[in-house]
Amino acid sequence: MQILDGKLAAQHTKDTLKKEVDEIIAAGKRAPHLAAILVGNNGASETYVASKVKNCTEIGFASTLIRLGEDSSEATLLQEIEKLNNDDAVDGILVQLPLPKHISEQKVTESVNPLKDVDGFHPISAGKLVLGLPTFISATPYGIMLLLEHYNIPTRGKHAVVIGRSNIVGRPMSILLSSNHPHGNCTVTLCHSHTQNLKELCQRADILVAALGKPEFVTADMVKEGAVVIDVGITRVPDSTAKRGYVIKGDVAFNGVAPKTSFITPVPGGVGLMTIAGLLKNTLQAYRTRQQ
Ligand code: GUN
Repeated sequence: MQILDGKLAAQHTKDTLKKEVDEIIAAGKRAPHLAAILVGNNGASETYVASKVKNCTEIGFASTLIRLGEDSSEATLLQEIEKLNNDDAVDGILVQLPLPKHISEQKVTESVNPLKDVDGFHPISAGKLVLGLPTFISATPYGIMLLLEHYNIPTRGKHAVVIGRSNIVGRPMSILLSSNHPHGNCTVTLCHSHTQNLKELCQRADILVAALGKPEFVTADMVKEGAVVIDVGITRVPDSTAKRGYVIKGDVAFNGVAPKTSFITPVPGGVGLMTIAGLLKNTLQAYRTRQQ
């Protein structure tokens, strides 16, 4: 069993990006610029956005964080997005999800200029992904592909099972793994809450991606000997003995599952860090496209 170390692979991506940024700056040009909008005070979202901004700084990107109160109207948020759409010095825009209930995620994602849609959530980005056209791939599936690439994990002809059909992870993941891509070409089964015989399907997975958001859902009896297991879950589970009052759990019961696998991602230290690597790569891509 080998750990797929997201910290290591993300650092590799970041080192490469930093070199590219250094060359851009040495050529007298401005740095790529990511703008993030955070609405409300969701604790997990605060952590993720802070980490995204910190990672931008580490590799020499400019970043802007716009914070809006929980009660901000949809119109206010759309106005902020429009300002960023029209700001030539901003290359990438991300609106951290989830949004407060009174704001339409669909309206918000559709309002981001597709040329700056570094989260890949706009219908144009999602549609291009389905068609196999170059686009911004949403950061988590992109990060997982980068991780498979970093560890040179063979995927062609393998049976991949993805649990979870969310627009931001499970569904794009299923499309990427089935696409004609050096780390795609899998036969993919996409499982969700209505799937029958889930355990049997998982047992037939060469590559198992757990992205349903249920702590320790995947247990050893569901995993084939030698499978590659990718754990996308990051759930805060209350724990009064923990320093912060919670512990982070993945969707995979790691201790039981790990010994059966050939490769497995830990939580934390796996997919989460790769998500940021994917986002940073998309931001540089947006910059380069917009500079042309
Ligand atoms: N919420 C959970 N994951 C993500 C992500 O990748 N991007 C944004 N914007 N929000 C998220």
